Amino acid sequence: MPGIVIVGAQWGDEGKGKITDLLAERADLVVRYQGGNNAGHTVVVGNESFKFHLLPSGVVQNKEVRIASGVVIDPRVLVQELDTLEKRGITPRLRIDPRAHVILPVHNALDEAREAAAGEGKLGTTGRGIGPCYEDRASRAGIRFEDLVDEARFRRKVIPLLEAKAQLLGKVYQRKGPAQEDIVKEYVDLGRRLAGTLGDVSEEVHSALQTDGRVVLFEGAQGTLLDLAFGTYPYVTSSHPLSGSVFVNVGLPPSPLEVIGVSKAYTTRVGSGPFPTELDGKVADRIREVGKEYGTTTGRPRRCGWLDLVMLKYAHRLNGFSQLALTKLDVLSGFKKLRIATSYRYDGVEIGWPYDIEVLSKVEPVYEELDGFTLGRTDSYEDLPEEAQEYIAFIERTLEVPVTIVSVGPARQQTLFKSKPL
Ligand code: IMP
Repeated sequence: MPGIVIVGAQWGDEGKGKITDLLAERADLVVRYQGGNNAGHTVVVGNESFKFHLLPSGVVQNKEVRIASGVVIDPRVLVQELDTLEKRGITPRLRIDPRAHVILPVHNALDEAREAAAGEGKLGTTGRGIGPCYEDRASRAGIRFEDLVDEARFRRKVIPLLEAKAQLLGKVYQRKGPAQEDIVKEYVDLGRRLAGTLGDVSEEVHSALQTDGRVVLFEGAQGTLLDLAFGTYPYVTSSHPLSGSVFVNVGLPPSPLEVIGVSKAYTTRVGSGPFPTELDGKVADRIREVGKEYGTTTGRPRRCGWLDLVMLKYAHRLNGFSQLALTKLDVLSGFKKLRIATSYRYDGVEIGWPYDIEVLSKVEPVYEELDGFTLGRTDSYEDLPEEAQEYIAFIERTLEVPVTIVSVGPARQQTLFKSKPL
């Protein structure tokens, strides 16, 4: 199948970066299709660790990488990432769709102002200006990448936008926005620097998918339960991480895709919102410390809990996983017993995933208890203890989706292939 999409099956941070990096070897193009620098991927190659917020993970493999129209780009962050890679001797082969929107400092300021004003009711955003930038896109007031790289056009469009935001920040939030002239000057420079990367990604990907033998990898950010429409609204991000959104976000007609869902062997979430299998106390602390569960983007400690198959079933329904990659199995090593949620109880009745988050926040998970395992040397899937293999088989049986990849550590070689993913 020439189009492969990597989707987060949970609340983000599932380890998509590592899986994309692994599969990028087989790809001709790696394309980011939504979100912005709220994402954070860590890719470990040998002794080197690469952290990206915007650039697709395929850059490490020196693949052709693309940022599609559905992404919101903070050019300050992008230039920083490009500079860091240049210093390490990597010149990314990057192209950005002119229709992608640009994050401005006023978007960050508004994101922060809203969160501060919401107090206890805050969403726990990453503060990267993602929501306000997507709002401007939807209200047709935003700045697109094609504007950024054309100084006269940029000035013409950005001044009214900055003025409107200054009013909003001042009158509603009693805050002074960043200085207009400074923003214009900084962004004109950034536009000059990035002008050479502009190109019609929609057209290019379309023609790659029509060409025999070309493989395109679509890299998702965040995760299914953070989807603007189908996630735990309003505790969601402002874009659509779902597999189907590839078509609209890149600008392609629907066609069959190989859909690789990525899930941790347990569950984590950063930010606010319901989380049925959340744990506190020793088990959560152990998962957080062993799994280094602190946000790549904000450093916030992640909330931790058992694997939730009710949620993964829902994620499968929305994305149509053809296979699953299970990450961080090593983090569960050493527990005597492990729990997996298979249904929820609400008002004395067993239910599946409810669409109403008021209900979701009151459900009690119903658990299946499985024997724990201790991982030793793991050079191949067959080296896994029987109990670990049963843990995986249980997931496969319940979801009716094959697990093809099992990750037992951050390095490329700490990956076990249960069957061939592609
Ligand atoms: P925003 O995307 O910064 O607006 O944040 C909205 C919600 O999505 C918050 O709960 C964030 O913590 C969460 N979020 C955004 N990006 C990521 C990610 O890459 N991983 C995990 N959570 C994320």
